[in-house]
Amino acid sequence: MRRVQFFDTTLRDGEQSPGVNLSAKEKVALALQLERLGIDVIEAGFAAASPGDLEAVRQVGEAVGSATVVSLARAVPADIEKAWEALKHAKNPGIHVFLATSPIHRKYKLNMTKDEVLERAESAVRLAKQYFPNVEFSTEDGGRTEKAFLCQVAERVIEAGADVLNIPDTVGYLTPQQYGEIFRYLRENVREIDKVKLSAHCHDDLGMATANTLAAIEAGVDQVEGTINGIGERAGNTSLEEVAMALATRKDYYQATTGLNLKEIAKTSRMVSKMTGMFVPGNKAVVGANAFAHESGIHQDGMLKNSSTYEIMRPEMVGYEASRMVLGKHSGRHAFRDKLKSMGYEMSDEQISQLFVRFKELTDRKKVIEDEDIASLVEERWAGEKE
Ligand code: KIV
Ligand code: ZN
Repeated sequence: MRRVQFFDTTLRDGEQSPGVNLSAKEKVALALQLERLGIDVIEAGFAAASPGDLEAVRQVGEAVGSATVVSLARAVPADIEKAWEALKHAKNPGIHVFLATSPIHRKYKLNMTKDEVLERAESAVRLAKQYFPNVEFSTEDGGRTEKAFLCQVAERVIEAGADVLNIPDTVGYLTPQQYGEIFRYLRENVREIDKVKLSAHCHDDLGMATANTLAAIEAGVDQVEGTINGIGERAGNTSLEEVAMALATRKDYYQATTGLNLKEIAKTSRMVSKMTGMFVPGNKAVVGANAFAHESGIHQDGMLKNSSTYEIMRPEMVGYEASRMVLGKHSGRHAFRDKLKSMGYEMSDEQISQLFVRFKELTDRKKVIEDEDIASLVEERWAGEKE
């Protein structure tokens, strides 16, 4: 089995979510948690963006022990030098240099020819390599770049000494098949492609970021990039917890491992949500409040017999205590009896049947039935008997 490296950009691309602003202290606390989670590379910020972000990147670089800490930089000397100023005392420093390559970005954003892009990419990587042991180069909007031109860029940055080549689907435009195809094409058409690690970086504009990242893994990438809870620009980035759990749950299919300590996922997700103020939707895969909750009677009955009936992974695997049986109008007698028992009520089948009728009446008035509601039902029934 091959090992896929995880690059977390919660503190950089994630922080680009509208309305999110993390202090240096918060970034350090999150970075230490990302390290406990087993992330290989932590993108701490964009040192040239502001003095505050430079300071945050510096503090993260010095606090983190085993993961590589990188700063984002445009392909200009000033940004590369700022990144070095931030990370020169880091334990494992790295830089992430990017330059747009697509026809749309070349024309409207950069106003640069293909040759100018090639020159700029090469000289930026050469300069970065003078400072950093670990240089990643990203072809921004690589997903909408001509494949032949991507190959030219790849050859130039490999020659200049890049260690990682990232092809971002910056605007979340590609389908899984198309995204995987880019990496296969690069492997077949770029000289000395084995000198770099290939990396995938997806955005979720069409809700395909996780699927695209998994397609890239199938196409043989060495590294995947994303954020916790999938936060990021516009619709966000790939949710790293989703990719991690897809690899763990479908090891039979992907044949790939990670260095992640999966039990830290729930805690990391909670921290990110709290510090960014970005709440996780209840139905979010892996970390949503309902990801391991069961409401319908048929599902609850199956779960009580064997959890594999309706769960493909156990909540304990990602650090949650247990699955939740939510009592509502779809719940059945089996889950109701189980709930009474777990609350310490020992009753005959006849008593349970009577109570179950009242429970069902209540579910038409109340969406979720809490323990206190059950206790009231039981008390009401006893009160009735006493009269
Ligand atoms: O999505 C993207 O293209 C980026 C780059 C800066 C790598 O985040
Ligand atoms: Zn991005």
